[in-house]
This record gives sequence, C-alpha cells and structure tokens, in this order.
Amino acid sequence: MRINRTILAASIATAAIFIHQNLMAAEGQMQQFVATQDGSPLQIKPELFDTPAAKEFAATGKNTYIGNQDAIARGKKLFQLYSCTQCHGGDAQGQTGPSLHGPNFHYAKDATNKGMFETIWHGTNGGMGAKGKGLMDPTDPTNGLTPDEVLKIEAWIRTHGSITGNEKS
Ligand code: HEC
Repeated sequence: MRINRTILAASIATAAIFIHQNLMAAEGQMQQFVATQDGSPLQIKPELFDTPAAKEFAATGKNTYIGNQDAIARGKKLFQLYSCTQCHGGDAQGQTGPSLHGPNFHYAKDATNKGMFETIWHGTNGGMGAKGKGLMDPTDPTNGLTPDEVLKIEAWIRTHGSITGNEKS
C-alpha cells in the first residue's frame, strides 16, 4: 500500500508539473494584446481563444479567416447582430462612426488584424465602447463577441478594402 501511495503521489506530482509546463507554454505563445486607448496591456483569458483560428491568432496575430467565404458570411451577420451597422453603416462605409474600408485608419494599427481586434475588443477613447459596449455587459468577458467572432467580423470588413490585415503577421 505504501509503495502504491508513493507511486500515486509521484504520478500526481508529475502530472501537475506537466500541466503547469503546458500552461506556461500556452501563455508563452500568446501575443501581447494592448488597449487602443492607451497602449496598456489587455488581459484576455487564453481559454476564450477556443477555436483553431482563434488559437492561431492568439499565437501569431494572423487572422486565418481572411478570404474564407463561410467566415466572411458569418462576419457580415455578426456585424448586423451586434449593431455595428448602426454607427458604421450596413456596408461599413461609415455613418456616425467612420468608414472601416481603409487602407487608412484613424488608428493606424487597425491596418493589422491584431490592431483592429484590440480596437473592437476594448473600444476607443473617441466614441466607441468595448465590443459595442452598451449592448452587452463589458464587465463579463464571456458576454458579447468572442475572439473567434471578432476575427470573422474582420474577415468581412477586409473584403471592402485593398489590404488583408495579415501583411505584417
Ligand atoms: C455607438 C456607435 C458605435 C457602435 C455600435 C460601433 N462603433 Fe465602431 N466606432 C464608433 C466611433 C464613433 C468610432 C471612432 C472612434 C474614435 O475615433 O476613437 C469607431 C471606431 C471603430 C474602429 C476603428 C476605425 C479606425 O479608423 O481606426 C473599428 C475597427 C470599429 N469601430 C469597429 C466596430 C465594430 C466591429 C463594431 C460592432 C461590434 C462597432 N465598431 C460598433 C462607433 C461605433
């Protein structure tokens, strides 16, 4: 019995170290996301990146939905569903909010998919709340758009302009 217990304890310890190392590795792979407002680090829970595309994006900053027709169709729907259309217009051509067609953006970093992700995720100083704040509870990170959905919205937005947003990633 004593040996079994020792083996069990050793196994648990090994498993714990293994899990810990994997978590560290996962964290190490995460891009550092920063707020568009002031460049301060954004803490986005790694588990929110819960699809292959979202995981790839978290690791590399590359949006693999660019040019993917299914993702683009879904992104267009989400743009309507989350009322982005109310401020940016049905075709993201600009209304009370600016056009999102680019290639020149108010926030230059929005020319990259990582930069635009940060802007959509956390909002701006000049009139846009996080994830279309007001429609959803910004204190609950699981409420509202998921990272995967933001990437699909970007894929649709990029169909209007001359850049993919992946040029630099
Ligand atoms: C209440 C109106 C409103 C809603 C809803 C809204 N936006 Fe905005 N958005 C704005 C305004 C105003 C700006 C300009 C903000 C600034 O200059 O700081 C902006 C800026 C942006 C930018 C940066 C553009 C640039 O030139 O850098 C992006 C990207 C964006 N919005 C995407 C979205 C998406 C995606 C949604 C839906 C999830 C959304 N917005 C919902 C009002 C809105």
